[in-house]
Amino acid sequence: MIFNLSVGQLLVGALAWIGTVGAVTIPSCQTVAPPEKNLTSVRTAEITVPAPPFGVVYAQQNDIAFVTLNTSLGVLNTSAFTPSLIHEIPLPASYVSVSGGTGSALTHNGLYVLVTASSTALIVVDAAKAATGSPEAIVGVLNGTAAAGDSAIEVTISGHDKYAFVSQEYGSPQTSGRGTIEVFKLQRPATNGTISGTYVGYLVLGDAVVGTALSPDGRILYATSELASSNTTQGTLSIIDVEKLKTDPSKALISNVAAGCGPVRVLVSRDNQVVWVTARESNALLAFDASKLVSDQNAALLASVQVGTSPVGLIFAGVNESRILTANSNRFASLDPSLYGNATTGLSVIEVDAAIRGEQANLGQIPTGLFPREFAISPNGKTILVTDYGSSMIQAVDVSTLP
Ligand SMILES: *[C@@H]1O[C@H](CO)[C@@H](O)[C@H](O)[C@H]1NC(C)=O
Ligand SMILES: *[C@@H]1O[C@H](CO)[C@@H](O)[C@H](O)[C@H]1NC(C)=O
Ligand SMILES: *[C@@H]1O[C@H](CO)[C@@H](O)[C@H](O)[C@H]1NC(C)=O
Ligand SMILES: *[C@@H]1O[C@H](CO)[C@@H](O)[C@H](O)[C@H]1NC(C)=O
Ligand SMILES: *[C@@H]1O[C@H](CO)[C@@H](O)[C@H](O)[C@H]1NC(C)=O
Ligand SMILES: *[C@@H]1O[C@H](CO)[C@@H](O)[C@H](O)[C@H]1NC(C)=O
Ligand SMILES: *[C@@H]1O[C@H](CO)[C@@H](O)[C@H](O)[C@H]1NC(C)=O
Ligand SMILES: *[C@@H]1O[C@H](CO)[C@@H](O)[C@H](O)[C@H]1NC(C)=O
Repeated sequence: MIFNLSVGQLLVGALAWIGTVGAVTIPSCQTVAPPEKNLTSVRTAEITVPAPPFGVVYAQQNDIAFVTLNTSLGVLNTSAFTPSLIHEIPLPASYVSVSGGTGSALTHNGLYVLVTASSTALIVVDAAKAATGSPEAIVGVLNGTAAAGDSAIEVTISGHDKYAFVSQEYGSPQTSGRGTIEVFKLQRPATNGTISGTYVGYLVLGDAVVGTALSPDGRILYATSELASSNTTQGTLSIIDVEKLKTDPSKALISNVAAGCGPVRVLVSRDNQVVWVTARESNALLAFDASKLVSDQNAALLASVQVGTSPVGLIFAGVNESRILTANSNRFASLDPSLYGNATTGLSVIEVDAAIRGEQANLGQIPTGLFPREFAISPNGKTILVTDYGSSMIQAVDVSTLP
């Protein structure tokens, strides 16, 4: 593979702090990724939606999915391979900032979709009512505090649906602009079906806190900060004790580990052993040994895989999580065409075992619309949806046709 680095890239690389841990090196910053093989034989289909789609999540059945569409929650009929938008449930305007709807997550019991909208609040949607298009699908709003932040991005739900952890990307003046994880305790539904909650508190992390993921045993919450502090180009992966987060959030941090330039999303393997992170400004997918993140951080980095330009979302695909797809957003192209204009968007397909062995693992890139951002996979594992935020499209990927 030819790495055609520009002077700018070399400068950024040289200025970045380059750490070495174990046998694998934490990647420095990189503007444009080298070209990838074009995977045109993967079956995809796309639809246009009325607003930039951000978070997407399937219901417990395969034929319904939900997507945040700025001021509404879109309901997709996914019974056919090509999805169709069948309803839009307006989100409560006073809890949606101008940046609009962001993350979404389904409770483990399948009853509710929790939605964030770049504000202080967590919006609770009844999944079954939403599937019918009922405006009464909004069954609760849990409003946080200004101190934790008003730029909520992702939500992760604890194992028994009792707590919700919300990333507040930019925190507040009280946190000196450092992002936080805000904690809500969810109450049982009232007899009229509404959901309320108790605000527990928040944990301050680094700058621009976005991605969160729970370990499958429910004990650890992982969160990314794009920058460890405003004086570095390196971001962090934070390892957080969930039991403490539920009761005393400000004391829940176990440790932080360097996670490349601009880490933005995190994913944990079903066997609880490997934590995967997209380092957006390194154009890399990183793999960490989950147990060493707690016991031996300097040896925790297992792999660093070159992917496409500015990866954001990531998801497992295939039997036994044999593949990972990254959403190569090229999101800075519109901000600086002179640097990013030649980069492409797409989904890199990564062979998980090869990545862990340190071998060539990038199988190529599936073309997408602009700024592919987040993923969802159907419960039967057959279809992956990706939100193309920059071209207001939702794209379906047929998992059986992946290399
Ligand atoms: C990749 O495939 C897409 C779809 O066929 C095509 O539009 C694009 O030009 C191809 N890119 C490269 C680099 O070959
Ligand atoms: C979301 O909708 C609001 C209100 O219509 C609008 O001002 C804003 O520009 C929209 N945001 C995006 C990202 O489309
Ligand atoms: C989804 O579309 C299929 C095929 O058109 C239809 O049979 C089914 O009733 C639709 N489901 C919902 C929930 O609208
Ligand atoms: C939600 O909480 C924030 C922070 O306390 C407050 O500024 C805002 O007015 C509240 N929103 C509503 C609709 O009550
Ligand atoms: C539903 O019940 C809750 C708890 O009793 C109450 O606070 C709320 O106002 C009720 N909402 C409606 C729409 O009746
Ligand atoms: C960051 O740099 C500024 C200016 O050099 C300095 O004042 C500040 O203390 C630094 N902050 C940290 C956290 O190192
Ligand atoms: C998936 O993992 C299970 C359990 O380890 C194993 O029995 C099975 O053979 C694996 N399937 C494939 C296709 O690798
Ligand atoms: C983009 O491609 C054009 C044409 O090949 C080339 O002249 C230009 O230098 C490239 N820009 C960057 C930033 O690589």
